[in-house]
Amino acid sequence: MTERGRELRRLAAEAESKISAVAAGRYRCKYHLMPPVGWMNDPNGLCKVNGLYHVFFQYAPQGADGSGMRSWGHYASSDLEHWKFYGVAIYPDTEDDADGAYSGSAVPEGNGFDIYYTGNVKHKDKVYDYITDGRESNTIRIRCEDGFTFGEKQVLMRTPDYPKQFTRHIRDPKVVKTAGGYEMTLGGRLSGDRGAVLIYHSGNGTDFSLREIVTTPEKFGYMWECPDRFELDGEKFLCVSPQGVPHEKYKFQSTYSSGYFSGAVEAGNFIEWDMGFDFYAPQTFFDGRRRLLYGWVGMPDVPYDNLPTIAEGWQHALTVPRVLSCRDGKLYQTPAEEIGALRGEKIPLDRQCDSFELILDDIQEGAKVVLCGCLEILFGRSECVFRFQEEGGRGRTVRYADIAAKDVRILMDVSVCEIYLNGGEKVFTTRLYPNSYSVKVDGKCQAERYAMGAYGIQIEKLP
Ligand code: FRU
Repeated sequence: MTERGRELRRLAAEAESKISAVAAGRYRCKYHLMPPVGWMNDPNGLCKVNGLYHVFFQYAPQGADGSGMRSWGHYASSDLEHWKFYGVAIYPDTEDDADGAYSGSAVPEGNGFDIYYTGNVKHKDKVYDYITDGRESNTIRIRCEDGFTFGEKQVLMRTPDYPKQFTRHIRDPKVVKTAGGYEMTLGGRLSGDRGAVLIYHSGNGTDFSLREIVTTPEKFGYMWECPDRFELDGEKFLCVSPQGVPHEKYKFQSTYSSGYFSGAVEAGNFIEWDMGFDFYAPQTFFDGRRRLLYGWVGMPDVPYDNLPTIAEGWQHALTVPRVLSCRDGKLYQTPAEEIGALRGEKIPLDRQCDSFELILDDIQEGAKVVLCGCLEILFGRSECVFRFQEEGGRGRTVRYADIAAKDVRILMDVSVCEIYLNGGEKVFTTRLYPNSYSVKVDGKCQAERYAMGAYGIQIEKLP
């Protein structure tokens, strides 16, 4: 092992010695996955192999503020409820990933899987813009025979291997097995600052050749991160997280966006996954029965913060696993039934309870709900308005959804809230930091509230 590898392991061990102190934090969630300590961003390498779900994530244990080097953290579970934390799976400990083991995916193979990810390298010998120069993005594969032991890193593609019309921003390989071999989708930024994906094919999972570059006819953002492609009910979907799409009242309200093209790859066909303040860089996978999506409950470069959790030594979370279904070319998202099984006793709206499910029905125009004293939801004739009333939003203000909501399911989990409108036609995900955990509902809708999380996620760190 290199000196650098030893140093990274020492730093992670030092940070992870604080796991139990962090676990006592007031804002820790009960049924959302969080970093055991430090920083979390994108879900990575999602798969189910030999009855076990594996959820990897972008992880920087050394600092809750995100300043640390990105590695891959590893959770595994047999039931999506009880999770074990297996520590760092991939350290950025070689020359080929010296500035971060960035996002990627896993392809089940035998009793294990192959991981494909981006080794991020930044040159520091001169001043660079790190867009057109000074950055390398190596596409790396690691074989994992049993789900837990990781083999040698093998670089499959380097900067000179990518097409010349791209800048240095190429990353986040999503690889799937197809009838004829393997297909890899990479996100990228074309010269001229346009987002695009690169689609590669390989017969053996090692040698990849470029098949196609896909972008919109008109520019749609300057960079597309974290691509994903799948088929559901006979429809094909290309998912990306575009950066630099101009804001509109009902669309692209966050700093960056994420969603999918329904039909032809054109800006007008792009549908966002989530209207909330904290949702980005999702990834999907097929677990043998259904297609599940996990998103990052977070967003880079925002004008609001999560200082209360940073003070506790951690930041960010993942959404609950969401089952995707397709209706008229549109994807609906609903919490996996494993999350529904966490529903406990029915409780009154005014009881203090920081982890609950709220079901709203028969919503009439003008209905108003105030969640935990700080998030007001207004149901209009053809729009929903989510407005933070006070400090509980930490700078989060207002979001709009163009939907006539008839039924709503709210998953509240201490400092994370996911709101599913009309059976998951639209979703709103946010962080919030309330002082009180009751609910106020006016007479214009029916409300039922249940305690949640009694059997929620139990995170154990292996010895
Ligand atoms: C998305 C992203 C990815 C990258 C990773 C680095 O949030 O920027 O494109 O691989 O985060 O942590």
